[in-house]
Formats: sequence, C-alpha cells, structure tokens
Amino acid sequence: MTEETLPKQAATTTRFVDARGRGTRIEFCGDDEFHACWYPVALSSEVGSGTLIGAPFLDGRVIVYRTSDGLAHVRSAYCRHLGADLSMGRLLNDQVQCPFHFWRYDSAGSCIDVPAGDPPPPHAKLFSYPTAESLGIIWAFNGDTPLHPAPHFGQGDEALLIDTYRNPRQMQVESSIVFLNSFDLQHFRVVHGMPIDVDLERVSEHEHTLAYKARVSAPEFGDVIQDRRLWGVNTVTIASETAGRRLYQLHSLCPVGRNATQGFLVSATPMPADATDDGATRLLAQSRDYALRLVNEDAPIFDTLSFRRDNLTASDRFLAFGIQYIRRYPRAHPGRELIR
Ligand code: FES
Ligand SMILES: [Fe+2]
Repeated sequence: MTEETLPKQAATTTRFVDARGRGTRIEFCGDDEFHACWYPVALSSEVGSGTLIGAPFLDGRVIVYRTSDGLAHVRSAYCRHLGADLSMGRLLNDQVQCPFHFWRYDSAGSCIDVPAGDPPPPHAKLFSYPTAESLGIIWAFNGDTPLHPAPHFGQGDEALLIDTYRNPRQMQVESSIVFLNSFDLQHFRVVHGMPIDVDLERVSEHEHTLAYKARVSAPEFGDVIQDRRLWGVNTVTIASETAGRRLYQLHSLCPVGRNATQGFLVSATPMPADATDDGATRLLAQSRDYALRLVNEDAPIFDTLSFRRDNLTASDRFLAFGIQYIRRYPRAHPGRELIR
C-alpha cells in the first residue's frame, strides 16, 4: 500500500456535533427491535455436515444446522407445536426432528410430518433468517432481505490463511455501543496506547457500509495505514500491510440478549506460496494476541458503562458522527414471535 498523508482533523467541532439529548442515557434499540445487520451466530467449525446446534440470537434463540448440500441454515429454535427447543432434537435426512412429539421440519423450515397421523398445520413453519457463510463464520441477517453483502475481505476465502474464533468473554452491553468503539478516537490513544487519525472529510458511505483510511500507531505493528470498513452497525474489517504481508482483521458483534454482546474475531493473510514459510502463521498469532488485548482492555469498561452522550469535545467529532449513523440505521425484528 502506498503511504499517504492524512490531514489532521480540524481543532473545532463542526457539523457532526449537536447538543440535543445531552446527558440522557442512550439505548440505540427499543424493546422490540434490533438493527438490520449480518450477525455472526456460529463458527463454521461448530456446524459440520449433519450437525444441529442452538445459539442465542437477538432476544431469543435460533438453531443452526448444515444440510447435506453443505448449506448452513439459521432458523427460529422453538417448535411450532408446543415450543420445544429444536436444538435438543435431531437432524435426520436434512429434516429437523423435534425432541418432544417428533414433528419434522423440511429444508424450507415447514412442518411436513406429524407422527400421530394428523395433517401438519399449514402455519407450522419456522422463521428462516437469510444465511451466509464466509471467513469461518455463519451469518444471519436480521431482516427479510439483506441490505448489503455479508462482510468479506474482497477476495475468496480459499486464497487466504484464516484464523477465526469467538471472543471468550461476552460483554454486558448493547452491541451497537461496542461497535461505536471504532468511532471513539480518544479511547484508542489512552486505553489501547494506539493513536489513530482519521480524515473525517473522506469517510465514504455506501449501501450501509462506511469506508475510510486510518493512520494508526500500534505497539504490535508500528505505524500503518489501514483501510477500515464498517458494515452495518456491528462489524469492522481492517486491511493493512505489515512486515511485507497483507493482514486482514475482522471484529463482528452479535446481540445475545437485550444488553449482552458476543464478539467474533478473524485474522487472515494471503496463503503463502511456500509451505515452509511460517511467517503467515506467526502473523496470525500476533494478530490474535493484539485483538484479544484490545477486547480485554475494553471489556471491563463496557460491562459497567451507563452510556450517554454528555459533553463531547473536538476530538469526539467522529464519535458524534457514529452516534448519528447508528441512530438512523434501519431496524427490524421479523423473527420476534418465533425466536423467544
Ligand atoms: S413440541 Fe415439538 S413436536 Fe410437540
Ligand atoms: Fe477499544
């Protein structure tokens, strides 16, 4: 990547800041809605062929399973008969069998068999989330139709060496407040010892993603220019060049309750041509240590935060923009009746 100089941000607050609602505690989502995003619900490695698992999602629960064609599915977890948790059931010939009275659901999520001999009720259908799989993650879109593609690094997974894992520590806070961390330039400097400059005039917005360059100084990687992309209001991807290699990083957040967040993290680098070259593996290990350092430094603060936009200063221009961006982001909850 060519080094380029990013202008310093202006020293005065301007259009990003407004004074409305000062001091009021902020919750971005109301009681019955969540943002319309691609959310990470499971690791691909947790859902092998013929595997059926349950996972917390939004304010409810889903099943995640893989049919014999290799496709992953994310559906409401509760049986349309009496509400048994289908993750306690079995996957038989690509059909989900409920543990309670053995009703079966086909690959479209419709009940097609009631062993007692009654005709399956026509409305006995599970809610199916649009599902995607990339970077070792199974994603579910909270909405009927995705607003943008699932997060990616701009090339096929097969060309990359990928390290995907779950943050071992959930955080007790709304996920979009954790996401706002990417806009919070003051905290990068003092909490993470990692000054970041962003050219706020060159942040571009397209189809519910934001893209910008950041000049970052991190103890682990030195001074780098990062291409950052924010997807929806829950995922950040970062591309940079370090030690002569391309490094991709992702941090994505999933609501697992009204005020609980599960993070998923990815590091990736182009697959080395030479099998004896272990530099790529070492880079991914370094990236994992770095990412876990950041999330562990943030976690105790988020667990105890009573979030409000009280007195913002000039350095908070990007943060103020982020708050407004999240506030106007679309919301949905089409599975609300069936996942809880
Ligand atoms: S609760 Fe599932 S079949 Fe009865
Ligand atoms: Fe942080």
